[in-house]
Amino acid sequence: MTSLTVREALGKATAVLRSHGLETARLDAEVLLAFVLKTSRSRLYIDSEKILSGDDLTEFFSLVERRLNREPIAYITGEKEFMSLIFKVNRNVLIPRPETEIIVEWVIEKVNKLLLSPDNPIILDVGTGSGAIAISLARYLPQAEIWATDISAQALELARLNAKNMAVEDRITFLNSDLLTGIPARLKGKAHFVVANLPYIPKEEIPHLPAEVAGYEPHIALDGGGDGLDLYRKLIPQAREILAAGGWLCMEIGMSQTKTLASLLPASNWGEGIQVLKDYAGLDRFIVAQNRI
Ligand SMILES: C[S@@+](CC[C@H](N)C(=O)[O-])C[C@H]1O[C@@H](n2cnc3c(N)ncnc32)[C@H](O)[C@@H]1O
Repeated sequence: MTSLTVREALGKATAVLRSHGLETARLDAEVLLAFVLKTSRSRLYIDSEKILSGDDLTEFFSLVERRLNREPIAYITGEKEFMSLIFKVNRNVLIPRPETEIIVEWVIEKVNKLLLSPDNPIILDVGTGSGAIAISLARYLPQAEIWATDISAQALELARLNAKNMAVEDRITFLNSDLLTGIPARLKGKAHFVVANLPYIPKEEIPHLPAEVAGYEPHIALDGGGDGLDLYRKLIPQAREILAAGGWLCMEIGMSQTKTLASLLPASNWGEGIQVLKDYAGLDRFIVAQNRI
């Protein structure tokens, strides 16, 4: 390959990414080149006339090639920012989504307002994946006792590594468990929050998802069965057993699923005040329900 400056390499990569229909072509090119050069995107502008070494150029265009095949940027770089923390990600875990921060922030606010007045809130993250929810809560709620489960041993391995990197490994108990079945009996009736971003895509919709998702993200993190709510149907009674009276079940779901999910939460068990929270696009995305006092 002939020698190229940073500016020329970015221009070339952007053009090829755009010609393959990637809408974020320029941004993707910048993120990938900054990753190769171990620098920031803004630095690329300062160094725009710098000639790239042959090795850097080869590595950069091999990453661009992966992106052309629709591999998500986060899997290529192995990192994703969530709640201002950097999580390692790989193809065994879902890439944490920005909207999931909304439910994490809701829990933090609830604990900080001490609506339940727990000195040491007990919080369970079901289907932890990369550990995004559990680890963020551990970082932002230093008084919380956190439990995190996942059915995937590979996901838990990465979640443990992330917890270690963020110095909260002693604050979280990770369990390889089907939903909450592995949580010790002594926690029954004691937890203040059960937070879940479980798979909720209806099985037959998965092949129609964007290639980045359907082709790369683990189907065990996406597949919610027939109508997408199979796992939540199982979780709701389990959560009721583990939650203290007045504790909260917080669930992330798809925008068209709120009515069906709400119908699985009878007022006799969950009180009247089931709330639907919206995501950044204004779409219904979360249900929070309080275990009857
Ligand atoms: C949509 S991903 C969410 C990951 C992470 N909580 C997040 O918000 O980024 C769902 C996770 O649930 C896990 N999972 C699927 N079925 C499960 C089950 N029966 N019990 C526990 N975890 C399960 C998957 O392995 C995956 O890590």
